[in-house]
Amino acid sequence: MDLHDLRREYLMGELRRADLCEDPHDQFAKWMQQAFDMEVVDPPAMTIATVDANGMPSQRIVLLKHFDASGFVFYTSYASHKGRDLDSNPNISLHFPWHSVERQVRVSGVAERLSVEDSQRYFHSRPRGSQLAAAVSPQSQVVASRDALEAAFAELDKRTEGTEVPCPSTWGGYRVRATQIEFWQGGANRLHNRFRYTREGSSWRIERLAP
Ligand SMILES: Cc1cc2nc3c(=O)[nH]c(=O)nc-3n(C[C@H](O)[C@H](O)[C@H](O)COP(=O)(O)O)c2cc1C
Repeated sequence: MDLHDLRREYLMGELRRADLCEDPHDQFAKWMQQAFDMEVVDPPAMTIATVDANGMPSQRIVLLKHFDASGFVFYTSYASHKGRDLDSNPNISLHFPWHSVERQVRVSGVAERLSVEDSQRYFHSRPRGSQLAAAVSPQSQVVASRDALEAAFAELDKRTEGTEVPCPSTWGGYRVRATQIEFWQGGANRLHNRFRYTREGSSWRIERLAP
């Protein structure tokens, strides 16, 4: 496959300072709604990057489950690769790649665990199958086989029949409190539009960045 001569122009929209909300969470809410309206596939799917104790970065997709001015919330295993990274370094970057609308959003911030109560409440709101899967999956660890996972799933399903699936103590949410949020809108001739919000106390500084 020759990728060299592929050329795509980014012509869907403009982004001007006057278009922006003063608070990036409001701007994010506006773009998230537009992503749904314009039928972007899975707008809440975001790539999150963490860094381990040796400085090695890694990334993976998780689902954004809630956001407001206090931060961006996702759920996972605290004992996973990302969970261990965040134990030693809570700095995190989130990335929303909304290709079909020629937009991306990048968030830098610090992750903190949700309370056990909030995590458990969300855990029990999930379909029973997802609860069982989370409870039997030692996320990011080597497992013997698919069969072993399925056997553990079936065993827990049987054992907890008619009752609640216990939320593992290693499972829960993180809230990412943003320090910077960047909005990118593709532009003609690769002269793209970028605006970066930087937290300054209770307000935000907004700057245009070169593409
Ligand atoms: C579309 C999509 C959504 C996902 N959502 C989540 C999620 O919300 N939480 C989660 O822990 N893993 C989710 N995953 C799986 C992660 O990408 C990853 O495989 C897993 O969390 C283990 O990552 P780690 O070993 O880096 O900790 C999702 C994967 C995809 C492709």
